[in-house]
Amino acid sequence: MFSKSLLSFFGTIALLSSVANTAPSPVADVDWDAHQWMAPGPDDFRSPCPGLNALANHGFLPRDGRGLNASVVLDAALTVYNVQPEVLSLAVKLALLTSNDPSTFTLDDIKLHNTIESDASLSREDFAIGDNVHFNETIFSTLANSNPGFGFYDTTSAGQVQQIRLADSEARNPNITNTQKEIFFRSGASALYLGVMGDPETGKAPKEFVQVLFREERLPIAEGWHRSETPINSANQLSLTQLIIAASNWTSSGGCPVFTLTPSGLHF
Ligand code: HEM
Ligand SMILES: *[C@@H]1O[C@H](CO)[C@@H](O)[C@H](O)[C@H]1NC(C)=O
Ligand SMILES: *[C@@H]1O[C@H](CO)[C@@H](O)[C@H](O)[C@H]1NC(C)=O
Ligand SMILES: *[C@@H]1O[C@H](CO)[C@@H](O)[C@H](O)[C@H]1NC(C)=O
Ligand SMILES: *[C@@H]1O[C@H](CO)[C@@H](O)[C@H](O)[C@H]1NC(C)=O
Repeated sequence: MFSKSLLSFFGTIALLSSVANTAPSPVADVDWDAHQWMAPGPDDFRSPCPGLNALANHGFLPRDGRGLNASVVLDAALTVYNVQPEVLSLAVKLALLTSNDPSTFTLDDIKLHNTIESDASLSREDFAIGDNVHFNETIFSTLANSNPGFGFYDTTSAGQVQQIRLADSEARNPNITNTQKEIFFRSGASALYLGVMGDPETGKAPKEFVQVLFREERLPIAEGWHRSETPINSANQLSLTQLIIAASNWTSSGGCPVFTLTPSGLHF
């Protein structure tokens, strides 16, 4: 079944990197007051990623969204979210493919379709049929309204949300890309909102925190959020990702995984 090949394709990458990083990187103290949320200005770049946009809106990444490299992004993710570098190393390497510069990228670059950016997102429209960069409340309403009757989201609700979002994209987007690559990346992003806004071991995250991250691209400090004390690492992220995939009842829409390799669209 798909889970076996998923494990051999992406699981190996994640497992190898977790083996290579057994001791968690220490997290520095943060002067949160020195990092107030500010809306981006008209010339500032933002991305399809609520996690990175929030880092820029709080000045943990350059507020203009430019000149990013692997180390500034990995440092900011560790400092603010306690996400261990091993979790994001594949993402930052892929991000460099989206840029014309060999060692830096912008928050605008990473919207490049089918490098990291994919269809059936949780809060953005599909590339072929709309705006794949900016938050869209209609799209987000599936996640916002999930797990009714409870105050938190979890891996089961996250999987159900992905199933509904994928069905919507399959119904409306004739250009949909939905392969093993996408199910792994999309479920990894779901695991990140659960782990970063909630508990990376149980995968439960307060709804209010998740909604503030998506809707305002703001850290919900005023609402009581604090950085996870448990390091968010490859082991707990892979475990949440697999539970989410199982709960999403996923099937491929056909075709092989595609990686867009350059901003001009070279791919295979
Ligand atoms: C710092 C921790 C991070 C968190 C908490 C995070 C969280 C998320 C979440 C929840 C989504 C899903 C958005 C949606 O489906 O509407 C997402 C999407 C995305 N993220 Fe991140 N992310 C992080 C780091 C990164 C890094 C390091 C990169 C690349 C440099 C990246 C690039 C992207 C991109 C391109 C998307 C769009 C994928 C799509 O089309 O759905 N993210 N991220
Ligand atoms: C990444 O960017 C930071 C800030 O601009 C810079 O200090 C650092 O030297 C860069 N690192 C690499 C590896 O290029
Ligand atoms: C959609 O798919 C068609 C047929 O493969 C292709 O010609 C077209 O360029 C695609 N459009 C987008 C926006 O990807
Ligand atoms: C948001 O997505 C919906 C489809 O679900 C679409 O009809 C609407 O035009 C989008 N809104 C914006 C501002 O792009
Ligand atoms: C899961 O997917 C299969 C095959 O697409 C479908 O027959 C089944 O009804 C789905 N189950 C749920 C709970 O959605």
